[in-house]
Amino acid sequence: SSRPIPKEKGLDHTLALLEEGYQFIPERRSELQSDIFQTRILGQKAICIAGEEAAALFYDEQLFTRKGAAPKHVQKTLFGENAIQTLDGEEHKQRKRMFLSMMTPGRLDELASITRRQWQEKVPEWEQRDEIVLLHEAEEIMCRIACEWAGVPVTEPEVKQRAIDFGLMIDTFAAVGSRYREGKRARTRSEKWIEKIIKQIRAKKLHPPENTAAYIIAWHRELNGKLLSDRMAAIELINILRPIVAIGRFVTFGALALHDYPKAREKVKEDEKNYSQMFVQEVRRFYPFGPFTGARVREDFEWRGYPFKKGTLVILDIYGTNHHPDLWENPDAFQPERFEDWKESPFSFIPQGGGDHYMGHRCAGEWVTVLVMKESLEFLTRDIAYEVPEQDLTYDMGRIPAVPASRFVMNNVRAAS
Ligand code: HEM
Repeated sequence: SSRPIPKEKGLDHTLALLEEGYQFIPERRSELQSDIFQTRILGQKAICIAGEEAAALFYDEQLFTRKGAAPKHVQKTLFGENAIQTLDGEEHKQRKRMFLSMMTPGRLDELASITRRQWQEKVPEWEQRDEIVLLHEAEEIMCRIACEWAGVPVTEPEVKQRAIDFGLMIDTFAAVGSRYREGKRARTRSEKWIEKIIKQIRAKKLHPPENTAAYIIAWHRELNGKLLSDRMAAIELINILRPIVAIGRFVTFGALALHDYPKAREKVKEDEKNYSQMFVQEVRRFYPFGPFTGARVREDFEWRGYPFKKGTLVILDIYGTNHHPDLWENPDAFQPERFEDWKESPFSFIPQGGGDHYMGHRCAGEWVTVLVMKESLEFLTRDIAYEVPEQDLTYDMGRIPAVPASRFVMNNVRAAS
């Protein structure tokens, strides 16, 4: 017979979630002394889970469905409506193959060289300026990289606004009121722009190379043999462009780590024993970005004697699993060396989701993210010199997504001698 899931008191905890952000689930786990608890958010019952075994459970697609899991709020800003994040089964796998077919070794090599060149090209401009704000510069550079790599033409006068729009879609998915509406408008503008590009490709007026995201998505066929609608193709192409811009946030946290841990900075610069790879992994583990992800129970089942009822929203604690004391020694210390002899597991280190890239919903852009971060942090340590003036570098764990308050200001940027 089943036992009750530990439960927190109260009618609805949506406000607490918005206030506590990344700490909402970990706080309650420690209060209730349990890696599983029940709460109410967004007017419904939800089960929150954390840890390696919980993640393995969550990615069992026999037990969970993504249908009706992502809030409309998030779909109207971050994901796009009815996109890959909401699909199940064969339909999902067909769409996922489309995304993963873009990630060949040759295309990743190209991405690395585009990344190096796009950073380099900004140096002369920065040398003329008193200060730059890294997050904003990184988002613009990532936007240039994303468009070039994906085969999407972007003109010089428009690139800044496009980058701002992608940045807004990322920044507002957990926002309320006018800030949220700003994010929705940014998505509407972006979808209009990219839908036009899809139409031009399909009308043979635009010819991106065959191995680019723009080409692959425009000509992708669903299981029923049909092309995606113009709008859905645009939404999925944005599911490549926008998250590449999001890497700008990890680069900014990476710069913060370089600043806070000068010894690690030297090691990234020297890059012996693939240190920069370990540093990038630790940045992805340590800093708060993706907070959690959700799915619904497909059919009633029991786990460890706890009842999971059909239709219940289940939320996997991403940040909390990456900081789980059973899985990580000194979880709240920044220690890239922990990845030196790390026992790989698809369910304990889940900054971009867990499980298998092909079979489940794990992030399609994980290799892209690691590669672009590596190139970017190597650029920051080797190719330029800069100073970090007094500023507020703290980040509010109640804000989703978290970001250093000052967005990382840099002074006196110049090419390294
Ligand atoms: C899915 C995080 C970068 C494309 C996801 C998921 C997370 C995530 C948490 C959902 C996992 C789940 O619900 O099970 C991140 C973070 C990134 C990042 C923190 C850092 C910038 C990227 C990049 C791309 C990308 C660069 C593309 C080039 C996708 C796609 C999905 C996804 C297409 C949907 C996969 C599916 O539903 O099967 N990502 N991601 N992401 N990500 Fe990323």
